[in-house]
Amino acid sequence: MSNEKKLRRAEALSGEIAIPGDKSISHRAVMFGALANGETVIENFLAGADCLSTIACFRQMGVEIDQEGTKVKVSGKGINALREPEGILDVGNSGTTTRLMLGILAGRPFHACIVGDESIAKRPMTRVTDPLREMGAAIDGRQNGNYTPISIRGGKLSGLEYVSPVASAQVKSAILLAGLQANNEKTKVTEPHKSRDHTERMLRAFGIEVKEEGLSAELIGGQSLQAASIQVPGDISSAAFFLVAGAIVPSSTITLKNVGINPTRIGIIEVLRQMGADLTIEERGSHAHEPAADLTISTSELKGTVISGELIPRLIDEIPVIALLATQAEGDTVIKDASELKVKETNRIDTVVQELKKLGADIEPTDDGMIIRGKQTLRNSASVSSHGDHRIGMMLAVAALITEGDVSLSDHEAINVSYPQFFDHLNQLAD
Ligand code: S3P
Repeated sequence: MSNEKKLRRAEALSGEIAIPGDKSISHRAVMFGALANGETVIENFLAGADCLSTIACFRQMGVEIDQEGTKVKVSGKGINALREPEGILDVGNSGTTTRLMLGILAGRPFHACIVGDESIAKRPMTRVTDPLREMGAAIDGRQNGNYTPISIRGGKLSGLEYVSPVASAQVKSAILLAGLQANNEKTKVTEPHKSRDHTERMLRAFGIEVKEEGLSAELIGGQSLQAASIQVPGDISSAAFFLVAGAIVPSSTITLKNVGINPTRIGIIEVLRQMGADLTIEERGSHAHEPAADLTISTSELKGTVISGELIPRLIDEIPVIALLATQAEGDTVIKDASELKVKETNRIDTVVQELKKLGADIEPTDDGMIIRGKQTLRNSASVSSHGDHRIGMMLAVAALITEGDVSLSDHEAINVSYPQFFDHLNQLAD
């Protein structure tokens, strides 16, 4: 394939880097700022392609948003000021933009049409369009509203008590954002396991009362958002690539500054500890209800483990790089209950197994996860592909650090979706 990037090996990694802003939190800060009254100021915003898609969509609905690098000002005039977009809303590669925006649009009295890239066109949307229809929105799209292009005309919404078949923060958030528009009615979402709770935490920072109890989150519609000041912590899902790199590259010690450690996101930290990694955490306090810390990791002797159940939603985006980690652990690592991997930016069971095998890993797909047998020296020269998936691309760049052969990566631009500075940071630690 065209435009291959030659990946590097590393003898050792050292130094520290500041991890860029959290993607989930950056999306929400822009969206909630757009719905609020007043000026929302966002610091350490993630200026990656996905979050820029969110900004572009809300600008098309008349919201004034000023973005310079990692600083964003959103001039909100309240949810009723959103207006019908003249053109099509292009969400690019972003599932979070698509699903959360559908929740907002569900109660807006106008028409909007959403499209995205090839990957978005394969991602299932009835998980949000079905409950949003039940609340009163008119939605259509390919295969009865399961795939983009999707068109939506918001309606007068009723509250909903919804028991979700999947643990998904995007589903939960879409329903809560629609529920906010169901005046004086209760909306409650219950999940099989707890998914990330950034929406619940940030809604509170914008003055909304949200109740969280066990596996449920609920609110009463008709409350209005007041502008807030949001300091976005670093994205633990981006830090994950360097946590794994620090653990598997010989003679390494690296520090990752200002990483979000929300309990619903730290599955990777728990797994690293379970596998025996040499990791220390220095807490740095909280902003807008989101705690952060500096993480220091050193080369570690690792052992295999089992990853399943309630842990899965707390590390779902880290599974590709955890699979790589497991190739360097003694014994078997079994990842199960993770069939959600099949509906991410790519089918990540297939893409992880296919690409790691090219480098010589002993890895086998299962119906709901994978089995990795370690410890295995990665030694093959190979041309690997991100398949257009940012997290597969970054995982492979970390794998190349310890691979004895020459490795080149195609479709590496996908990494801009969540971590435009990734290769700069990698070079900084490897030099
Ligand atoms: C996200 C939720 C997760 C995650 C995605 C971001 C969010 O998806 O994989 O990268 O910001 O709410 P699901 O809600 O589909 O599990």
